Amino acid sequence: MREELNNLKNNALAQIIDAKNEDVLEELRITYLGRNGNINELTKEFKNLNDEEKKEMGILLNETKKTIEEAISSKLSEFKKEKSNAWFDYTIPGKKYNLGHIHLISQTIEEISNVFEKIGFVRVRYPEVEWDWYAFGALNFPVDHPARDEWETFFIDTKPHPKFGAMLLTPHTSSGQVREMQRVKTPPIRMINIAKCYRRQSDVSHYPMFHQFEGLVVDEGINITHLKGTLDYFAKSVFGQTVKTRIRPYHFQFTEPSFEVDFSCTICGGKGCKLCKEGWLEVGGSGMVHPNVLKAGGIDAKRYSGFAFGWGVERILMMKPGLNIPDLRQLYSTDVRYLKQF
Ligand code: DAH
Repeated sequence: MREELNNLKNNALAQIIDAKNEDVLEELRITYLGRNGNINELTKEFKNLNDEEKKEMGILLNETKKTIEEAISSKLSEFKKEKSNAWFDYTIPGKKYNLGHIHLISQTIEEISNVFEKIGFVRVRYPEVEWDWYAFGALNFPVDHPARDEWETFFIDTKPHPKFGAMLLTPHTSSGQVREMQRVKTPPIRMINIAKCYRRQSDVSHYPMFHQFEGLVVDEGINITHLKGTLDYFAKSVFGQTVKTRIRPYHFQFTEPSFEVDFSCTICGGKGCKLCKEGWLEVGGSGMVHPNVLKAGGIDAKRYSGFAFGWGVERILMMKPGLNIPDLRQLYSTDVRYLKQF
């Protein structure tokens, strides 16, 4: 047994010295010192020895164990030292993490507010969960008027307000007009209200949740030329100096007269193409604020007049040459491969 122990020790030490890495060393530790390792196997043979031999072998066995342990731990610290001396190149560039960026719609909202803030408009936001009165009643829609149907409104199933009627998700930013009149009280008012709106609709150019911006100007002596000038300024600022605007008579409950607003096609420059057909793209609505709306906002309709306009942020995006967004719903996807293009 003495010889066996000696061989075991010599073999172990030779293997430990040759070990190439920490994994090999760990395997050797298990082979020799593990619970079912060679040393423990040898102790099983103790039962064949007399007391004297047992004592002698016990001492020898412990010594062998200790020698192997020490050899392993000194080899281990050799590996550790090698590792810490490894050459490190401090000039290697660090890991690059992907940086996010502002969503295309938020970028457009910022662009729109910057354009209007330059000419003195104040950016505001009003509730998305709104009362019927602000969304319709105060905007000169009699109760049960069929024109309300055009707004495909989501109503909230809750008790109506005794004065303001049903609770709903605002279907247009026009609901901010009377709220702004109540906030400012005395004109001049120059509001740009940009907010989320909701309607029961979904196809390639409509989504149940979308964004609108609403301009409102109220002061003494405001007339249609101010409206037309503001629309021209906006169109040129966003789409370039060659873009023209035109207004066509239309009907809205809250403006009189009312107009639809067209921009000369931003894709073909007004010559006529697949998108615009005859050179004009319809963008949104506008008009001179109806006296009943001024009254609802507590404004003296004899002294003051105003104009308003409003349309979709997404509409502006879809008209940007080069962007080519065939389906508006893509904008609301969470696919980073799509979103990171912008
Ligand atoms: N609120 C209208 C819509 O959602 C757009 C609109 C039309 C806004 C005429 C106005 C306006 O301010 O004067 O379709």
